[in-house]
Amino acid sequence: MSTADQPLVLGIETSCDETGVGIVRGERLLVDAIASSVEEHARFGGVVPEVASRAHLEAMVPTIERACRVAGIRPSDLDAVAVTSGPGLAGALMVGVAAAKALALSLGRPLYGVNHLGAHVAVDIVEHGPLPEPTLALLVSGGHSSLLLVPDVTADVQPLGSTIDDAAGEAFDKVARVLGLPFPGGPHIDRVAADGHVTIDFPRGLTTGREVERHRYDFSFSGLKTAVARWVAAREASGEPVAVADVAASFQEAVTDVLTRKAVDACRREGVPHLQIGGGVAANSRLRAMAAQRCEAAGIGLRVPRPGLCTDNGAMVAALGAQMVLRGRPASGLAFTADSSQPVTEVSV
Ligand code: KG4
Ligand code: ZN
Repeated sequence: MSTADQPLVLGIETSCDETGVGIVRGERLLVDAIASSVEEHARFGGVVPEVASRAHLEAMVPTIERACRVAGIRPSDLDAVAVTSGPGLAGALMVGVAAAKALALSLGRPLYGVNHLGAHVAVDIVEHGPLPEPTLALLVSGGHSSLLLVPDVTADVQPLGSTIDDAAGEAFDKVARVLGLPFPGGPHIDRVAADGHVTIDFPRGLTTGREVERHRYDFSFSGLKTAVARWVAAREASGEPVAVADVAASFQEAVTDVLTRKAVDACRREGVPHLQIGGGVAANSRLRAMAAQRCEAAGIGLRVPRPGLCTDNGAMVAALGAQMVLRGRPASGLAFTADSSQPVTEVSV
């Protein structure tokens, strides 16, 4: 093994539109190289799978080379390779898995096929050190919104609840579209909302009455999305101007209120005083501020990685891969295939 017995691991992430290659040594991040095809998708208002796959193919080798150059390592220095095996877009995942297999085989190093969602949690280790065990994780991205109980990020991830319709990021993207903001909408709503005021009381799904008992740890954002669309349509029909910044701020307030309320409630009920937030929506400034405030008030330790490590990246895969090596988990071999619907409980394949 390399310096000071800390494994040098390269991670590859291609589950959506980001070609990410990260390199970590143990729990230290050396480089996080990213090539994004997001601009090629923007005009379609969503990620086009075939376009993403082709972009991954073109970006893969240059991104691996760049990551090694910036980290100052040779591929032969690597102790292991990790790759997102799922969930995600099938064709996009396949490009990453094929590249990772080729790299691991040519170097004669073990390969770890890991879960994208687990990697969103594990990335915080390279930011804030070892995860408390168990930790409670709120995972909010374009495809997922989940509350997870995580006794061991390399082997034991238990879903407590998830969205029953739209994911949080999906709601940001759809509402942005209604407001005439570009794709992906999350960062634009975040930016525009900073100049607005919370003037509209939009619905908070699954937070009142009987619904709470049945769906305590679940989320629902499609009613909120529809309420925003109706509100905007009514203003437009009556010829009134739409106060975009206020609508963005009010929508963002509703989403972040529900997410933080349920996450803090889960920590209390499960007796876990540690919350980790990950996934693209964790980059949201209001979510970060509200979570900080509510966790402090409830005596819960909060960890959220820097925004660049919340959205998809290769460092998260390298971080989880390194934990696999450090904890002596078995490698995946070369026979596995990408699994577009890999369950969150399957941390590695
Ligand atoms: O984790 P991620 O990069 O990809 C998936 O695994 O889905 O998450 C992407 C999602 C998109 O829906 C995007 O709009 C949202 O994260 N997002 C944000 C922000 N930055 C990215 N949502 C709200 N506020 C942000 N600042
Ligand atoms: Zn993601």
